[in-house]
Amino acid sequence: MSQPLLIGLDLGSSHIRLAIGQVTPTSERSGSGVLSIVGAIESASQGISRGSIAAVEDTVAAISAALEQGERQIGAPIDEAIVGMNGTHIGVIEAKGVVGVSRPDGDVRRDDVERVLESAKGAANPANVEIIHVLPHGFTVDGQTGIRDPLGMHGIRIEATAHLITGLAGNVRNLTKCVLRTGIDVTELVFGPLAAANTVTTARERDLGVCVVGIGAGTTSMCVFEEGELLHAKVFPIGADYITSDIAIGLRTSLEAAESIKLAYGHTNPDEYGKREEIDIGEYGADGSELASLRFVAEIIRARTEEIFEKIEAELRQIDRSGLLPAGVVLTGGGAKLKGLVDVAKATLRLPASIGAATHLPTSIPEQAYDPAFSTAVGLVQWGFEEMRKESAPGYAPALKKGGAIAGKVTGTIKNIFRSFMP
Ligand SMILES: Nc1ncnc2c1ncn2[C@@H]1O[C@H](COP(=O)(O)OP(=O)(O)OP(=O)(O)O)[C@@H](O)[C@H]1O
Ligand SMILES: [Mg+2]
Repeated sequence: MSQPLLIGLDLGSSHIRLAIGQVTPTSERSGSGVLSIVGAIESASQGISRGSIAAVEDTVAAISAALEQGERQIGAPIDEAIVGMNGTHIGVIEAKGVVGVSRPDGDVRRDDVERVLESAKGAANPANVEIIHVLPHGFTVDGQTGIRDPLGMHGIRIEATAHLITGLAGNVRNLTKCVLRTGIDVTELVFGPLAAANTVTTARERDLGVCVVGIGAGTTSMCVFEEGELLHAKVFPIGADYITSDIAIGLRTSLEAAESIKLAYGHTNPDEYGKREEIDIGEYGADGSELASLRFVAEIIRARTEEIFEKIEAELRQIDRSGLLPAGVVLTGGGAKLKGLVDVAKATLRLPASIGAATHLPTSIPEQAYDPAFSTAVGLVQWGFEEMRKESAPGYAPALKKGGAIAGKVTGTIKNIFRSFMP
């Protein structure tokens, strides 16, 4: 296939999702092409727990199965993917860097920007941690603060503040190893919830202040933006599967029966059901026939969903944004499809709330990929596309890539290390 493909690989605790993007070159010289999403694959996951690799062989098998489906769908081999990283080990560190401008005439050049970000990176680099992204959120040149892009400015001393998104080195290696073992390369490692958050919000929402909450099977993530930049991110080890377990315990039935009941009748508001509205759990795969009150099921769901949002609220309080984000909260991930969830978010967080999916993309996209559960996979493709666009733009500075050139270097290193393990 002559047109470049961008593959987003989202390794979830319950599903592996693949979004396939195709870039059609445009005729103008400066154009870097038009992105369309041409494929979306969802297959069962194995070996991944709370967003992290728990069993290598199982994960490799599950990724391989998803890739095979993807290759069948597009009729071409897949040889690399933009891989989403998730897990409670991921953290955000605020870092500062300072360097002197290297040219005697004081013109800030690309390598100055790279050096100052490299110096910020050095400011916070514990041994067992990998830096996944360096997200600069402001430069200062000779005391002038609030500079977004210092390239071409005049000065002697350049400072940068940046958010470093870090992951535990062991987790980063395990993830990379699993992907490489399937025989494909890692184009780039990206913090999955951040890619999803960019895709389900508009630039204006991120300017005003918004919190994106990604609810998966085993994790709940939050990414807070303000003035267009990421302000805070966190991954909690609780997901929508907890709701299923709660229902299973409450009704004394199997997880499978509880999941089916959740999908068919789950609601966060007990008042949606009358006191006598009951179902026979035997019809949902439980042993024997027994009646269960739907109001009771909703009460269980309500309690757990409130607990999830209380954790988000506590985190927002810590960063002084409780009730203060004008663009509110956007819920995404498979768990966001639970009926009535938006109301719990509004009540607990005292913010406007809505469901977010990849609906803002200026591109054609298969119906299935509009599902909130696909926002990470599609977000990864969009991330890859933006990197491509920046690389082809005139005056491109690798250090100003969204994730920073450093992120690419880290991945590159991992690639080389793990090549040696491959059969
Ligand atoms: N219509 C629905 N109503 C309620 N819950 C739903 C619905 N559809 C999916 N879910 C729940 O969403 C969860 C799966 O979400 P998703 O597929 O985004 O998780 P994942 O990406 O595999 O996990 P993670 O990101 O935590 O590693 C499951 O708990 C599932 O029960
Ligand atoms: Mg997920």
